[in-house]
Parts: sequence; structure tokens; C-alpha cells
Amino acid sequence: MSNYFHALVTEEKDGQFVRQIRERSVNDLPEGELLVKVHYSSLNYKDALSALGRPGVTKRYPHTPGIDAAGEVVSCANGAFAAGDQVIVTGYDLGMNTTGGYSQYIRVPSAWAVRLPKELTLRESMILGTAGLTAGLSLHQLARGGVRPEGGEVLVTGATGGVGSIAVSILAKAGYTVVAATGKSSEHEFLQALGARHIISREELLRDAHHPLLKTRWNGVLDVVGGEMLAAAIKSTNYGGVVTCCGLAASPELPLNVFPFILRAVSLVGIDSAQCPTELRREVWQRLAGEWRPEHLLQTATEVPLDGLEESFHAILKGESRGRTVVNLIDA
Ligand SMILES: NC(=O)c1ccc[n+]([C@@H]2O[C@H](COP(=O)([O-])OP(=O)(O)OC[C@H]3O[C@@H](n4cnc5c(N)ncnc54)[C@H](OP(=O)(O)O)[C@@H]3O)[C@@H](O)[C@H]2O)c1
Repeated sequence: MSNYFHALVTEEKDGQFVRQIRERSVNDLPEGELLVKVHYSSLNYKDALSALGRPGVTKRYPHTPGIDAAGEVVSCANGAFAAGDQVIVTGYDLGMNTTGGYSQYIRVPSAWAVRLPKELTLRESMILGTAGLTAGLSLHQLARGGVRPEGGEVLVTGATGGVGSIAVSILAKAGYTVVAATGKSSEHEFLQALGARHIISREELLRDAHHPLLKTRWNGVLDVVGGEMLAAAIKSTNYGGVVTCCGLAASPELPLNVFPFILRAVSLVGIDSAQCPTELRREVWQRLAGEWRPEHLLQTATEVPLDGLEESFHAILKGESRGRTVVNLIDA
């Protein structure tokens, strides 16, 4: 391998965060047993926060973001993987304060990696990425809580976004009746193609949301936006239903009372993909590659080169992106 490669580096200059493609060396990478040649990464909400220098994700700059990476093992000092193995690395500290997937090489602890399921290509694994793992963990928790396909409608909020669009696809694949809540009236066809049975606007979900309880409708809810929409969804969840919470695209607040929990036995389950235990991570990847594999996985992604992310960083933070964006590092 060449000792030099390319990486996107965000640095602070005169109080502004700027991004450039830089030549880096393997010696610049942090300690870790596992050296991976990255083929693909992806764009997640957190990556945009890190790349644009927004508080809460990355503390130290200059920094290379990218919480997702998929590629080929170059070497592994503890023997957990062999050279040439194909692996997926997502979450933990990757792209937070550890050089992330917007780099042609990463070096990480081997415990952060899982083997690529044989049914997926590296590119497909990054179309799924952290968003797919998060949607998969959410579906896992809904099913664990007793939400069954025959039990009625499941609501997905932020449905056109990364997590939301994969959630719609995998729930539909698993046989659930999916209702997609979206702020984008232009994307109804996109959501129907993913498998949404019905589509509702954010306004419809929020109608009468100030009431202590709402008319019940949802067998389960997979929420990515937080705030008033999550509160309204919980207030309209059926007796014994389950609501998963993974994001804050609208707000980190939850303006709610206890009535849905004490009168309707609704459960609220938190989802974290970053520190998710390896065993569960493997199981969810296996299901994403098999029984839950989205029908139109390849058609729903946009591919960009490493130097083509700038617009996408701004769009995702404004809630304007659609589906998933994969980053090609092979030719970077
Ligand atoms: N817990 C975890 O492990 C984990 C993992 C991945 C992501 N997340 C979190 O999940 C959230 C979504 O991530 P993502 O990568 O899917 O982002 P994304 O692609 O930007 O999707 C978010 C979607 O939410 C909707 N939305 C945006 N702003 C909104 C607002 N103000 N009010 C209501 N809806 C709004 C939009 O969909 P519509 O236009 O269709 O409504 C948007 O496309 C983020 O907060 C992210 O940090 C958490």
C-alpha cells in the first residue's frame, strides 16, 4: 500500500470551520489494532454536525468526520481479522474524535468492526450504514416489545430522511403496515415506492397535539425527530404499544405528560447505535442483509465523491435530504 492517501479534513480558521481534501499518511492515524482501506462511507446527521464544526459531536479539530466506513482489512495486530477481510465499522468514536470514514484509511480497535455479511457488497452496507443499523435496532425493539405486523399501523416520522427511509423499507419488508410522516409533500411517490401504505403530513400528526391524550391509532412508532411530533405520536399509540426514540432532528425536548404510560401502558424505548453491543450489532446486520433487506436498496441512494459532500452537509441539517448518500473513497 502507498503510505499516503486522501482524507477530508475540517479545521478552524479565523473562527470559521473550513473543509479540504488533504494528503495524509498512515502515521497520522490514531493507535488501533485494525488498519482498514476504506472503500465507501456515508452521510449521517452527526457527520454534518462534525464537518461543519457544530457543537456536541467533535471536540478537537483539525478532524476527519465520517461515523461510517466499509472496506478491506490491511492488517490486524490481534488476529481478530485477516488481511483482505471485508468489514463494516460504524459508531463508537469513529468520526467523532477518532479519524473517521471520510479518509481512505482508518485505524481503529478491532472490536469496532463487524464482518460484512456475505449477502451485501461494501457499497450496499454503506447505503444502509448507521442509518440502517439504527432503523434495524428500532425494528428489533418494536418486535421485542410485542409489535406484530398483524397488530395494526406502525408510524415512521422523518420518513424521507436517512433513518426514516430505511425504516419504512425494512418495516414494509417485514410485513408491517407503514404510515410515513413527512414534511415533504413532493416525496409521496418516493415513500410509496419504499413501501409506505399511507402518508401523513407533520401538521396532521400535530393536530390537537396539546391535548393530554389523543385518539389511538399506532400499533408502534419509530421516531427520529423528537420534540412535539414524538409527544403527539406517543399520545396516539394504542394500549400496550411501543415507541422507539433515536433522534432529535426536530428537537431534543419531549413535551409530554405521563398519561400514555400510566393509562395505556405505552412503552418508550431508547435506541443507540453507537455503543450497541457487538452480538446485537451482528444480528441486526445479518437481518438487514437477509429478511429485512430493502427492496430497492440500490435505487434509493445517491453517490458522491469525497470532495462532493459540501452541499449535502448543509442540506441534511436543514432536513432537506432524501434517502441515503454514500461516499466513494476508492477513487478519492
Ligand atoms: N440514536 C442513534 O443511534 C442514531 C443513529 C442515527 C441517527 N440518529 C439521529 O436520528 C436523526 C435522523 O438522522 P438522519 O441521519 O436520518 O437525518 P436526516 O436524513 O436529516 O433525516 C431526518 C428527517 O427528519 C425530518 N425532519 C427534519 N427536521 C424536522 C423538523 N424540524 N421537524 C420535523 N421533522 C423534521 C425530515 O424528514 P421529512 O421531511 O420526511 O419529515 C428529515 O429528512 C438525527 O437526529 C440523528 O442524530 C440517531
